[in-house]
Amino acid sequence: MLRMAVPRNYTLSNGIQMPSVGLGTYRVRDQATLDTCVLEALRAGYRLIDTATVYRNEAAIGNSLKRIFEQNLVPGLTRQDIFLTSKLAVTDSLRNLQVDYIDLYLIHWPGTARLKLPDPQNAINRMESWRALEDLYHAKKLRAIGVSNYTLAHLAQLVERPHNSHATHHPSIQGSTTAAAAAAPLARTMVIPHVHQFEMHPRLFQKQLVDYCQHHRIQVQAYSSLGESRLVSLTPPPPPAMDSNYNTAPLPGALDIMPGLIRKYFAHVTSTASQLSEEEEKEEYPRRAAQILLRWGLQHGAIVIPKSTHPERIRNNFDLFSFAIDAQDMAALDAYSVEGERTRYCWDSTKVC
Ligand SMILES: NC(=O)c1ccc[n+]([C@@H]2O[C@H](COP(=O)([O-])OP(=O)(O)OC[C@H]3O[C@@H](n4cnc5c(N)ncnc54)[C@H](OP(=O)(O)O)[C@@H]3O)[C@@H](O)[C@H]2O)c1
Repeated sequence: MLRMAVPRNYTLSNGIQMPSVGLGTYRVRDQATLDTCVLEALRAGYRLIDTATVYRNEAAIGNSLKRIFEQNLVPGLTRQDIFLTSKLAVTDSLRNLQVDYIDLYLIHWPGTARLKLPDPQNAINRMESWRALEDLYHAKKLRAIGVSNYTLAHLAQLVERPHNSHATHHPSIQGSTTAAAAAAPLARTMVIPHVHQFEMHPRLFQKQLVDYCQHHRIQVQAYSSLGESRLVSLTPPPPPAMDSNYNTAPLPGALDIMPGLIRKYFAHVTSTASQLSEEEEKEEYPRRAAQILLRWGLQHGAIVIPKSTHPERIRNNFDLFSFAIDAQDMAALDAYSVEGERTRYCWDSTKVC
């Protein structure tokens, strides 16, 4: 489903509102840096913050938010205005973030640490984790639950599990005394994920997965929209230290269509020359390429969560609502996703059983 108009918030299948743009926080741990980033983001209009237990920054984010609320640094802002996403393990996250509930909780990865990727126990553990999340959702500790890095096969296992005709997106019908509910006690605990967060950018569109999610009213959330910066830099940084889950093939860089798109959609701010000037390549290219990549995700109905530690970039990455990419350029961007080519910047979960 291609959108030209993009909402500021999506309504999840259980009726909860989720902002369409959020702040990513992977690899940002330092308290002072987070204080600046979180405050800058909230002042720019962000209301969603994405974290995870393994990012080891939940406590620092909790501290930043507490300070902002207590000192009224963003006038009138309260906990209820913020949408917090985290990923396993729940009790740690509630304590670290210093909150009573979390808006969205995700199973971070379809596999289990210390198990080999093809081990069938991964699938069993995954389902147990999901049931634990369902219980916390029903206990109202989590306002929505979802998954991350699931392939189509992992997701289908969850969505199409037996008795799922009774699965519900709607907490309001739990405990219903209708004949159908009485005949199907399992219906009380089964929930279809509200959100799926996975790597998505023009080099890794994952259209089938996007279509499947949209068909099942699972909100898509894109991560690494900027290819961990490699899609917005003509001189990409060296690859980060990788673990075994990373695909170690060489990382693809900037999209050759991008200078043309920047000239087309930002003609009022950039040079009309056929080549970007040296200064534009350094300053304008990353800034505008980021906006185009994020807008591409939004127009495919995805929520985006760009990460930056620079206030100017944080503001820039929220400036996504004043232009629209036309259908022809959307198709040209989609066409960068070529099956069999090296297209991932982050984790590869395709071998997890
Ligand atoms: N579920 C998962 O497994 C998973 C995996 C990966 C990521 N995520 C989430 O998604 C978020 C975003 O993904 P990501 O962090 O992998 O990568 P990303 O958002 O694609 O890229 C972030 C990188 O781009 C740079 N950048 C940001 N805005 C820029 C701009 N306007 N111009 C130039 N450079 C810019 C940042 O540098 P500076 O910070 O120096 O500005 C940073 O190095 C994460 O932070 C995390 O919250 C989830």
